[in-house]
Amino acid sequence: MTLTLAIETSCDDTCAAVLDGEQLRSNVIASQGVHDAYGGVVPELAARQHVEAIGPVIADALRRAGVEADEIERVAVTRGPGLVGSLLCGLQTAKAFAAPRALPLIPVDHIHGHLLSARLAQTPPPRAPHLVLVASGGHTLLARVDGGDPRVERIDLLGRTLDDAAGEAIDKGARLLGLGYPGGPALAHLALQGDPHAYELPTSARVAGLDFSFSGLKTALLYVVRELNDDELNARRADLAASYQHAVVETLMLRVERALACSGLEHVAIGGGVAANQRLRERLAELGCGLSIPAREFCTDNAAMIGVAAQACRPVAYPDHLRLDAYGTGQGPIR
Ligand code: KG4
Ligand code: ZN
Repeated sequence: MTLTLAIETSCDDTCAAVLDGEQLRSNVIASQGVHDAYGGVVPELAARQHVEAIGPVIADALRRAGVEADEIERVAVTRGPGLVGSLLCGLQTAKAFAAPRALPLIPVDHIHGHLLSARLAQTPPPRAPHLVLVASGGHTLLARVDGGDPRVERIDLLGRTLDDAAGEAIDKGARLLGLGYPGGPALAHLALQGDPHAYELPTSARVAGLDFSFSGLKTALLYVVRELNDDELNARRADLAASYQHAVVETLMLRVERALACSGLEHVAIGGGVAANQRLRERLAELGCGLSIPAREFCTDNAAMIGVAAQACRPVAYPDHLRLDAYGTGQGPIR
């Protein structure tokens, strides 16, 4: 087996993992609390936090894996898409780790990582061909993954969001309801106390095919909230959270069901931060098809999924990898 150090710094989590082949030996995630006060990620602050955290996070990942730095045989790193300042911190660190040892470096696409994160599932790993739903703060898409080595070229994009990502819609809705950032966990928690049918919010069912749209939902919530005074909002906050979560989950489910019906696929895998949502996980279980659901720590950003996707990517030899550059939001092979 080959010992891989994987690094992920595309947004606001500083992550490192050690894998032996596809076998995960350690997975360390340092989340940045500095953005909470701003209600969203501040790119400049994120990059500075990564610079401070990346060394200790890698040291911790090696220690937990029981591996010395000199035993690592290759380095996998997220190249994009994401915040370029954040990505560069991870990419330059990966080069600095690999160069003195003349190790190969494996550049990995962040979405490729989310697409294959179900290989780290507690439930059975997905059998190909299968459907994958990725729903995160930056991306929402449906794809078909065929058998063999799931290289980026073999991933067939079936649908994508036409506007906001599911996680972005959740965060914006949570913000309208006065919940903190990121809004997903807080919204899901509050939704437990509310009635999901109290408000009928749109699921963009009229958008035909397998593309998603969340902008109408966000606007619909804004119109409801605008009509409420502070006391009314306090009284209805849980109902609004439950109704909003219901609309996001049903928007996703409608496309998953359509994709299963038109593709004939019988197995669904999920990934991305929104895949941590309990209601979505329950609704998927009701489908009755094969399911691969990663543990929550592998849904939100993590380096373990980058190490797994690296198995399907081409390594770049030293010193050629020193020329690799990061790519930003909206770029890369999966769009
Ligand atoms: O995959 P991720 O960590 O980062 C990106 O690649 O964007 O996803 C972050 C998103 C955020 O929008 C966050 O609110 C959402 O995932 N999220 C959740 C939950 N946990 C995180 N959404 C719904 N329910 C959750 N439990
Ligand atoms: Zn992500």
